[in-house]
Amino acid sequence: MDPRESALRLRPLTDADREQALCAHEELAADGFEFLLDLREGEPWEEHVRRHEGYRHGIGLPEGYVPATFLVAEVAGELVGRSSIRHELNDHLRQVGGHIGYGVRPAFRRRGHATEILRRSLEVLRPLGVPRALVTCDDDNTGSATVIERCGGRLENVVPVAGGAPKRRYWIDLA
Ligand SMILES: CC(C)(COP(=O)(O)OP(=O)(O)OC[C@H]1O[C@@H](n2cnc3c(N)ncnc32)[C@H](O)[C@@H]1OP(=O)(O)O)[C@@H](O)C(=O)NCCC(=O)NCCS
Repeated sequence: MDPRESALRLRPLTDADREQALCAHEELAADGFEFLLDLREGEPWEEHVRRHEGYRHGIGLPEGYVPATFLVAEVAGELVGRSSIRHELNDHLRQVGGHIGYGVRPAFRRRGHATEILRRSLEVLRPLGVPRALVTCDDDNTGSATVIERCGGRLENVVPVAGGAPKRRYWIDLA
């Protein structure tokens, strides 16, 4: 483990995370990345939290969603990043999205957090019986590609994406 990362906790989102999570959401929007998923205007924060807790158990999934675990990464009381762990793949995820999506807030980058978040997310996926995880990133996202490769990712291919950057598709063995 990267010694810088021993203090990172990956845990479910809670009612108390509202302020920091919304702040992170705004920050990551600058990268075209959604920190919070399926955020609904006017929805009370507690309901957002409950909704995602339900998704973990396959409850109340919107059209096109698969059961997924949403976790935030906390270091010394600060939310530094997040992970969305999809328990299975549908056609879109198999081609573009992959099993795990993660992001780190700009102020906390280059400290090994994303590498640790992916490593721990793989440990969430393993007991669900997934033999190998698909993790993808934009072809020009050097940081994310390095993170995936450091976690054992083997590049299968780079695929075109309608209206977006080509995606690198990596597999990481879990069995
Ligand atoms: C990509 C991202 C997750 C990396 O987060 P991070 O916490 O900075 O990553 P790490 O510190 O674990 O980086 C691991 C290695 O990747 C490489 N790396 C990270 N960011 C990099 C960058 N911007 N440019 C080049 N290399 C980079 C470095 O080699 C780094 O190791 P080092 O700091 O020891 O040199 C973060 O920049 C981010 O959230 N970006 C926006 C959202 C996003 O792209 N998410 C991924 C979607 S697939």
